[in-house]
Amino acid sequence: MAARLVKRIYCGPISLNRRFSSQVQKATLIPGDGIGPEIAAAVQKIFAVAKVPVEWEVVDVTPVKYPDGKYGIPQSALESMNRNKVGLKGPLMTPIGKGHRSLNLALRKELNLYANVRPCRTLEGYPTLYNNVDVVTIRENTEGEYSGIEHEIVDGVVQSIKLITEEASRRVAEFAFKFAKEQNRKKVTAVHKANIMRMSDGLFLSCCREAAARFPDVKFEEKYLDTVCLNMVQDPSMYDVLVMPNLYGDILSDMCAGLVGGLGLTPSGNIGMNGALFESVHGTAPDIAGKDLANPTALLLSAVMMLHHMGLSKYGEKIERACLDVIKEGKHRTGDLGGKAKCSEFTNEICSKLQ
Ligand SMILES: NC(=O)c1ccc[n+]([C@@H]2O[C@H](COP(=O)([O-])OP(=O)(O)OC[C@H]3O[C@@H](n4cnc5c(N)ncnc54)[C@H](O)[C@@H]3O)[C@@H](O)[C@H]2O)c1
Repeated sequence: MAARLVKRIYCGPISLNRRFSSQVQKATLIPGDGIGPEIAAAVQKIFAVAKVPVEWEVVDVTPVKYPDGKYGIPQSALESMNRNKVGLKGPLMTPIGKGHRSLNLALRKELNLYANVRPCRTLEGYPTLYNNVDVVTIRENTEGEYSGIEHEIVDGVVQSIKLITEEASRRVAEFAFKFAKEQNRKKVTAVHKANIMRMSDGLFLSCCREAAARFPDVKFEEKYLDTVCLNMVQDPSMYDVLVMPNLYGDILSDMCAGLVGGLGLTPSGNIGMNGALFESVHGTAPDIAGKDLANPTALLLSAVMMLHHMGLSKYGEKIERACLDVIKEGKHRTGDLGGKAKCSEFTNEICSKLQ
């Protein structure tokens, strides 16, 4: 029988002129908090078995206190990313309403990782309510509702600024069309609420229209966020590539992940002008941390995205196929997928397919 073709979760590279070679390349690894170290160790083991020519530079991002009294990412971690231009990151814990600000956000801002790319595709052999999901959400990653500008005007009245700039909107809109063209996708949908936020979302939308005019081969449509949410749960095949401001992207991409089996399966990439950081989209899962119960698939598929981006697709394809085959066979699924396998057993099963 002809070899089964596994449609890639993602194919790169995008925007950056990476070398295409099988020489050893360095990549930064941020294992993260909670289940991060366990799933990062799983990825390292699988890469070693697959003989991937990547040397990991493991960095710690435990916040350090800077002279201005604020806590932030250690300089050494930023230097590693700036040097290697590519990295893989596990989840980081963010305290709610106090303590240091989100390190995820700080990394995105520091490294100017302006586009968050999340492919969500139905996994063969893992049935969910939907069997035809194949969408990519592209989220503006540096501003919008996440600009971090908040203040108290008077007692009991706080204001949070949604910042939309022409520069960032143009950049992400251009990226979405370029991505759609390179990946042979047919349509880009701009998701917005310009009927309500006429100026901010209006500006975002006009940048998408301008980009659409430069890519006449890619179909373009504009849709309200609420309409997209409704359509997505009724018939996800209506959509292909979606581009949107920060908060809409955060919510919609998690919803899309839910359509294909949850956060434990969904990879992502943060693409910037000078580098790219790939990460699982789930959090630190404190309820199962340290128990060898986590599903490493999301981080592993993020690492596969990283390999495509680095010009190492042949390794990425092999690893993706092994991982999806183990899930499809169903004998070694982790708890989040209804199975009983430990993280280490699932990992070993992938390794045995690669040997
Ligand atoms: N990108 C990131 O670094 C990121 C993203 C989201 C949340 N967080 C942080 O993570 C912490 C916990 O957040 P939360 O509890 O809201 O969300 P979470 O994603 O950590 O957990 C939600 C649920 O999903 C399960 N889960 C998540 N990942 C899993 C995996 N790989 N395998 C099996 N089960 C998995 C957890 O056990 C839990 O039941 C918070 O501090 C939050 O700020 C970080």
